[in-house]
Amino acid sequence: MMARLAIVCAAVLVSAASVAAQARGPRATRFVDSLVARMTLDEKLGQLTQVPGRWGDTGPTVPEGGQEEIRRGQVGSFLGVFGAGYTRRMQEIALQSRLKIPLLFAHDVIHGFRTIFPVSIAEAASWDPEAVERSARIAAIEATAAGLHWTFAPMVDIARDARWGRIVEGAGEDPYLGSIMAAARVRGFQGTDLSASNTMLATAKHFVAYGAAEGGRDYNIADVPEVTLRDIYLPPFHAAVDAGARSVMASFNEVAGVPVHASERLIDGVLRAEWGWNGLLVSDWTGVLELVPHGVAADSAAAGVLALRAGVDVDMVSRIYLNKLSPLVRSGRVAMRDVDAAVRRVLHAKYELGLFTDPYRYSDTTRERQTLLAADHRAAARELARKAIVLLKNEGRTLPLAKSLGTIAVIGSLATDGRSTNGNWTAAGRPEEAVTVLDGIRRAVPSSRVVYARGADSATADTSGFAEAVRVAREADAVVLVVGEHQEQSAEANNRAFIGLPGAQEGLVRAVRATGKPVVVVLMSGRPLAIASFADSVPAIMNAWYLGTEMGNAVADVLFGDANPSGKLPVTMARTAGQMPLYYNHKNTGRPPVVDQKYTSKYIDVPWTPLYPFGHGLSYTTFTYRNLRLSAPTMRPGDTLVVSVDVTNTGDRAGDEVVQLYIRDEVGTLTRPVKELRGFRRLTLQPGETQSVSFPLGAKDLAFHDSALDLVIEPGFFRVYVGTSSERVEEARFELVDARRCTKRVLPRAVPRFTWPVKGRAGGVTCR
Ligand code: NOJ
Repeated sequence: MMARLAIVCAAVLVSAASVAAQARGPRATRFVDSLVARMTLDEKLGQLTQVPGRWGDTGPTVPEGGQEEIRRGQVGSFLGVFGAGYTRRMQEIALQSRLKIPLLFAHDVIHGFRTIFPVSIAEAASWDPEAVERSARIAAIEATAAGLHWTFAPMVDIARDARWGRIVEGAGEDPYLGSIMAAARVRGFQGTDLSASNTMLATAKHFVAYGAAEGGRDYNIADVPEVTLRDIYLPPFHAAVDAGARSVMASFNEVAGVPVHASERLIDGVLRAEWGWNGLLVSDWTGVLELVPHGVAADSAAAGVLALRAGVDVDMVSRIYLNKLSPLVRSGRVAMRDVDAAVRRVLHAKYELGLFTDPYRYSDTTRERQTLLAADHRAAARELARKAIVLLKNEGRTLPLAKSLGTIAVIGSLATDGRSTNGNWTAAGRPEEAVTVLDGIRRAVPSSRVVYARGADSATADTSGFAEAVRVAREADAVVLVVGEHQEQSAEANNRAFIGLPGAQEGLVRAVRATGKPVVVVLMSGRPLAIASFADSVPAIMNAWYLGTEMGNAVADVLFGDANPSGKLPVTMARTAGQMPLYYNHKNTGRPPVVDQKYTSKYIDVPWTPLYPFGHGLSYTTFTYRNLRLSAPTMRPGDTLVVSVDVTNTGDRAGDEVVQLYIRDEVGTLTRPVKELRGFRRLTLQPGETQSVSFPLGAKDLAFHDSALDLVIEPGFFRVYVGTSSERVEEARFELVDARRCTKRVLPRAVPRFTWPVKGRAGGVTCR
């Protein structure tokens, strides 16, 4: 048996401990303890109860009867209720309750509040954590001005199956990129001081393996081996927690037969005991009640018992804690200490936010007026939107289009669809404030004639608009064909068994292509679409997702060359849904696919390869990679091996390149993925400029969970790949040596042991 090393990361211990110290400083603890001591059982259960708001003519409000419940202390938090003036009035009512405990206002602030940024998968396509952090920061600045304290973001679920509608809400398929994005978003929402009036609690969701929904069907079971859970699905949560996320949301799905809302092992075990996390665990919408249909609780009371025992602090929507737990606590079936622990976490969150000092500090009508949709917020949204666009194909330099073109035809219903421009989860965003693709093009080329035809929409098979589309295409010097999904064809519960262009749009592409005009396809979607049926036959394709308020401007910036595209796919683009699940970091199998060898792992009707691989994305310039070198041919467990490469801009215009580093552990005691992302760097290069890029590789980058669930590194050969995508890479090799220091893991299992190299927290790996 191969010698192995178990590794620990001291940084996690320190960061978890310091977060704990902040949240549970002696003053906070004394304050919270004295409050808990004065609370009745019903008041305690009220603090654990989260009530949904309702949308009326005047905006979101508490539901009927809600104000009385606040006065009676029966609500700890609301979701979907915001507005500076309104939340202030509700806090005034809360201060009329016996113990005067302020309310928490929560909402899904996912990719912007009023200024809408690109949907999360698009933000991940920027591979720019600083810009993504700024997006979350701006979202928090706007949302907190409208009275919100708590966002249900970031969603950090890894998604390897594009049929799953919620792939749009996360950072894609890779745990490394996903971890970096998770941490960036947490930092953005929470800032460095949660008591500041423009920072808010971030929620890492949905814990855990929600994206592994079998068949891509939302809410379905996640049938995931424990090692895959640890290596793929848990790391972004760990990164979020390590970045200080004060809240985590349980996921609807089961893992290994246990619905997460009832999983003591995952919530109290992994999150709290192993990782040392002491934040607020919120259920998902009716997640507590759903333990009944899952079949682990006979009735709602039993569901409440299971969830509270597992460590779910806040009961969103179900109201089971409030309505059912009281007699069970009195009879001893539910321990008062479990109730108190959950209540303490709610009160600590309120304390950290400064609500006991001033319950109105987030409800500031002046700030609300000044910050929403501020010019610098829109500018940041436009910049990130440009970076999120992925140029998939650009034959014969079809793009950028000349601004001097006489007539440009814009075709497709999505080109004018403000709601889809913003994407799903738009908080206070307004479709009429979003710059659509058609608007953006019109603004960018005021002296061209821009003609528009709807052509087809994504929801119906209606082809009656084809003739008009063909007519305007014929008039034009170039056609921008905007096709894809409208925003309700991805996101929650919007799963698709076929992930090509919905409706009559494939026919529209064929009809427009047949005019012989230069066609640029702009894809708008929440998932990587399967476009093999037409990708070969159009010269240029850009994947533009849903980019938010500034979408049209950003798309036009790239179309006409004011911005050079630099986004890279955070997900694999399949040829067809039949290939799902499809992801770059797959295992090799004993029979890796080989053309013309039948008994290898592939299909007889479709190639096994993706249409566009993970990490792919073109630029208007070209980059070459040379001189890949390692600082040493061998590495010892405590060493840092430096991987360097020279990247040159060999084209004629400045551009950004995202340089990607992958590794492969050639032989392991468990099979290892064929490639694993372990670093990336965004560079700006002038024409002719060369920059040398270096990536440090340490023990933690080579580690994986073995069958005993220890995090280990194993001596042997590793391949290193550096390049412009997961497939176009240069290759080198090194050996991990020195088995002398191999010992058993010294720390007990219930201690945090590992984190991803989140910026600023990369050091501290100790091999024992
Ligand atoms: C259900 C979704 O699964 C979750 O992501 C969201 O935060 C809640 N609803 C609240 O809107």
